[in-house]
Amino acid sequence: MTPSSFSDLAAARHAVRDFLPDPVPDEVLAAVLDDARTAPSWSNTRPFMLALATGERAERLRAAYVREFDRTLGAQHRERGALARLALTGNLPDGDYKVWAPYPEDLRVHSFAVGRALYRHVGVDRGDRAGRDKVNRRNCEAFGAPVIGFVLVHAGLMPFAALDAGLMLQTLFLSAKAHGVDSCPLGVLATWRRPFDAEFEAPADYGLITGFALGYASDAPVNDFRAERRAVRLVPTRS
Ligand SMILES: Cc1cc2nc3c(=O)[nH]c(=O)nc-3n(C[C@H](O)[C@H](O)[C@H](O)COP(=O)(O)O)c2cc1C
Repeated sequence: MTPSSFSDLAAARHAVRDFLPDPVPDEVLAAVLDDARTAPSWSNTRPFMLALATGERAERLRAAYVREFDRTLGAQHRERGALARLALTGNLPDGDYKVWAPYPEDLRVHSFAVGRALYRHVGVDRGDRAGRDKVNRRNCEAFGAPVIGFVLVHAGLMPFAALDAGLMLQTLFLSAKAHGVDSCPLGVLATWRRPFDAEFEAPADYGLITGFALGYASDAPVNDFRAERRAVRLVPTRS
């Protein structure tokens, strides 16, 4: 491998938001998981677990996540009393981490910018609430990917467990790309625990930190979108 072949691989991976239904062969999935174990880990503890869903399980998960999403639409639209109604009916998002918490101000601008650019790319105007809901519902369906993955981290080794999980997940994504398999991290799936728990039995001390999708990109225009890739910032030295 040359430095430029690594750079090409790293640059080729991007978030894919529309997948073909074609399954990922088991042997390809196995090879990608094998590569994922090459990631470094805090004291070699590997304080994370993966869960993978395909076929009917993936379809049930898509439906369950869309149900949760649709239940929260009123709250997402900031309708009066919507949050209270969710609380009263026991339908508040029950994720292990606060996915909906406001971002720090200095970072929020970047999140807004990529969201704005993505909606514009797919032709959804600023005021088009139904259009946005449709895009976000598709997110809850893992964009139609044949493989839906989940990353769980040991609550007793945070934040290092999250760090390790990220190192592992990017290794997995790069390996997938090298095998011709596209991916998208799906933080939105960590908003709720219920759909995951209906399908998997995770140890009690493991929190669901993100989902992800694996599969083959369709030629839908959304997959031509490229997010800005800002340089890694360096902390200035003292003079
Ligand atoms: C932990 C994590 C969760 C993410 N969750 C989502 C998601 O739910 N939906 C989505 O469309 N993109 C999601 N993304 C993708 C980011 O928006 C994307 O990585 C970023 O805009 C940079 O684009 P690129 O990956 O194409 O380079 C997530 C990324 C990460 C790292």
